[in-house]
Amino acid sequence: MKELVALFPANSAFELPLLGYSFDALEPFIDAQTMQIHHDKHHLAYITKLNEAVVKEVSLQNQSLEQLVKNISKHPESIKTAIRNHGGGHWNHSFFWTLLKPNTKPSEKMEKVITDNFGSMEQFKTNFEKAAMSVFGSGWAWVIKDGDKLAITTSANQDNPLMDISAKQGTPVMGLDVWEHAYYLKYQNKRADYLQAFWNVLNWNKVEELYTTK
Ligand SMILES: [Fe+2]
Repeated sequence: MKELVALFPANSAFELPLLGYSFDALEPFIDAQTMQIHHDKHHLAYITKLNEAVVKEVSLQNQSLEQLVKNISKHPESIKTAIRNHGGGHWNHSFFWTLLKPNTKPSEKMEKVITDNFGSMEQFKTNFEKAAMSVFGSGWAWVIKDGDKLAITTSANQDNPLMDISAKQGTPVMGLDVWEHAYYLKYQNKRADYLQAFWNVLNWNKVEELYTTK
């Protein structure tokens, strides 16, 4: 183990990213206590377990988080599930934090993109909420870009559409955590209420940036 640690120095281990805003910035839609536990406990746990897994497999030591997540099927069997769950957990949460910001609105350009892809903004929201409600147990709802087209999809657990094992692959431009840990303190079993609240804190500026650059 000592040699492996030497080959994978601590300074290349994955670290918890800063939120970039305060825990209470999304109140009353997402409460401060949920944000604090979600970021400081849940997200950190994925990173700790990812680092514990990667340190055991030197062939993965120089790979970026995105590379690790994209190539799940190619990883050694001994480490595949750990990278899928904890690498996925780290990527998904790092992505999710950037998509939360109060008081943004879709630009005219994004309104048109949404309307062109889904018929209307209302239809888009309805379709996305329906998909998010359909996730059985823990998982995520996504909007992905495939060419110039947008599509809504879901994943179980910490899978995501970047993974080569995903049935529906594409580049995420939006994602929503629908694990109970994301909403249970404030909304208990009412996932639908959490989904309604989410629209108030979705960072449309980030969605547009991702749509434009990916
Ligand atoms: Fe989460």
